[in-house]
Parts: sequence; C-alpha cells; structure tokens
Amino acid sequence: MQKELKKLPTHIAFIIDGNGRWAKSRGLIRSLGHKAGLSRLEKNIKECFYGYGIPIVSVYAFSTENWNRPNDEVNYLMDLFRKYLGKGFLKKYPETRFNLMGDMSGLPEDIAKKAQNLMDLTKDRTKFILNLGINYSGQDELVIAVNKIIEEKIEHVTRQVISDHLFTRGQPPVDFMIRTSGEQRLSNFMLWQVAYAEFYFPKVHWPAFNSKQLYKALLEYQSRDRRFGAIKEEKK
Ligand code: FPP
Repeated sequence: MQKELKKLPTHIAFIIDGNGRWAKSRGLIRSLGHKAGLSRLEKNIKECFYGYGIPIVSVYAFSTENWNRPNDEVNYLMDLFRKYLGKGFLKKYPETRFNLMGDMSGLPEDIAKKAQNLMDLTKDRTKFILNLGINYSGQDELVIAVNKIIEEKIEHVTRQVISDHLFTRGQPPVDFMIRTSGEQRLSNFMLWQVAYAEFYFPKVHWPAFNSKQLYKALLEYQSRDRRFGAIKEEKK
C-alpha cells in the first residue's frame, strides 16, 4: 500500500552507518551488526519502492577505505554481497534495475561478475533503480568520469557531460540523503549528485532505523523548503 505524503523525494540515498555500534551495544560481534543492517536495508528499500513509490534508492554499502577494516569483517561483508547479488535478487526485486556504483576491478572477481550479470539482466527494468555503492569513492567516480571524457575527446565539458559519465548516468540527482547514527558528514558519497540534496542525520544506528524512523525522515523532508539557489516566493 502506498503511504500518502505530499512531497516525496524521487531519489533517496542512505549512508547506513552504525552497524558496529549497534552490535557492540548488544554485546555482539560487529559482523552481526552488518547482518542486522542488511536485513534492515532490505526492508527499507522495499518500503521506499512499494510503500512510498520512491523510484530511486542509493546505498553506501562499502567504501574504498573500508578495505582497511579487519580481515574477518571485510570477508564477512564480501560474503553478504555475494549472497545478495545472487540470482535471488531478480525475484526479490522483480521490477528493479540494479546498478553497481564503484570500481569493479577492485572487487573479488566472482562478486564483480555477479554484479555485472545483474546489471545486464535488469537493464531494461524501468520502475525502480537500486544504486549500490561497493568499493565506491565519490572522488574516484569523478576522476573516472573525467578520464572517460578525455578518452572520448569531448572538448566542451558541461555539467551534463559530467553527469552523463557518472555511475548514475541518466538518473536525476539525489533529493534526500539520510545518514544514520548521528555522524554529520558525507564520507565521499555521491559528491556530485548531492549538490542540492536535503540532509537528515538521525541519531539511531542503521539496524534500528525502522519503518517509523523512515516515515519520520520523510515527514521532515516535507517541511524542507528547497530553493535550489533561487529566491523564495513571498506568500500572499
Ligand atoms: C557502516 O557501519 C556500515 C558499513 C561499512 C557496511 C554496511 C554494509 C552492510 C550492512 C551490508 C550491506 C550488504 C548488502 C549486501 C547491500 P559501521 O560498521 O561503520 O558502524 P560503526 O560506525 O558503528 O562502527
């Protein structure tokens, strides 16, 4: 059932922070925080798509800096990606185009293959898009785009040209960016795409960011006055 709110984002992005702290506060190992985080993520993605009709969801699942975490944790996360990107995805998200954002050449080969396979199989789906950042860096995304532009010998570079060479090519920019667990920074996520996004930093850790929290966030979005650099019109 679609939840009625007057003004909803077209493109919502999540920095899913606080899995480790959530686990620690329960006396669990960090990896169990990621497990709970994935379960929460699946619920929230479905709620965005089917509950609110938000067509584009972007998620920061693993940054280029996350390789510096302990091996056990990195391996656990890679296993989560392996499972998530398996064939089950097609049935779980029947109307969704999958889009991996990140440097695939730096991923374990089998994960890169699974991601590419999903992108190929879902490329003609038009209802929803899931952009998943794995081995992602916003600065690298811009560097990759610039190098492609040079290779293509494009002489006159505009904003549109840059947008067309990002991982999100063809998509509208991010309207609403949510980072859980209280940290108020972007950590290199979608630097270009969030130029005019509204930001929301709830204190709860990601595994606790439930349906009620999501509703509260979207209610807050209603109250934001987005002016995109223009002057606000006087109310009569
Ligand atoms: C940040 O919390 C979370 C991550 C770096 C990893 C998030 C990834 C997942 C939940 C897995 C998603 C999986 C798929 C398949 C999409 P943190 O570990 O930095 O938490 P902390 O700041 O409390 O330590």
